[in-house]
Amino acid sequence: MEKRELLYSGKAKSVYTTDDPDYMVLEFRNDTSAFDGKKVEQLDRKGRINNLFNAFIMQKLSDAGIPTHFEKLLSDNEALVKKLDMIPLECVVRNLAAGSLVRRLGVEEGKELNPPTFELFLKNDALGDPMVNESHAATFGWASEAQIARMKELTFKVNEILKQMFLDGDMLLVDYKLEFGVFNGEVTLGDEFSPDGCRLWDKNTREKMDKDRFRQGLGGVVEGYEEAARRLGMDI
Ligand code: TMP
Ligand code: ASP
Repeated sequence: MEKRELLYSGKAKSVYTTDDPDYMVLEFRNDTSAFDGKKVEQLDRKGRINNLFNAFIMQKLSDAGIPTHFEKLLSDNEALVKKLDMIPLECVVRNLAAGSLVRRLGVEEGKELNPPTFELFLKNDALGDPMVNESHAATFGWASEAQIARMKELTFKVNEILKQMFLDGDMLLVDYKLEFGVFNGEVTLGDEFSPDGCRLWDKNTREKMDKDRFRQGLGGVVEGYEEAARRLGMDI
């Protein structure tokens, strides 16, 4: 496998083509972005920890039967993935109230959500990633009803697997965002799972170990990610 040219550069990752049209290289950069790119900083070791964290989680999810794009780690900052035809939606599951849910509905931060909620957001920075529903997705052709149903099923299955994994490390999986695409006709988990796209709290102190440390200027951002990785048993 040979890395070729830059295909696309997002806010935190760059994507390269390879000599195989079915595979791409994801490069995790140190760029850290929040508020739809309005706040951006370079954080030492962030690309590395997110790449390693994502590889660990994707492997666990694959082992549990979730179809993912992840193939293998290539270096500290690069992973080989399948090339998906991406669905432009973000699937968010929440176990505890935080972030935009608290702002939108006025519920108390930390309130347990039973059953957990499922929300869809349109991937569009210019519009501020607006919340959308299944009817919008069908009407505007972002995803078929069957694809939405499968994304929802997989997103909740991921919740069952990861909630317990984090709990075993004394962490609460508050919420997270997944992105999917299609590979050979199958809805497949893409993008990344890292503390950039989820909320993780210490189970006892509720200290934040995710990108809210960056959003809220709390400091110790990468240290929080690395601590979460160690608690999952990763050798970092
Ligand atoms: P929210 O509370 O801002 O709606 O975010 C819910 C979860 O989804 C949180 O863990 C952060 C993640 N997320 C992203 O990673 N990227 C996004 O663009 C959005 C809207 C949410
Ligand atoms: N990842 C998005 C951004 O950079 C949203 C966020 O995490 O706040 O802008």
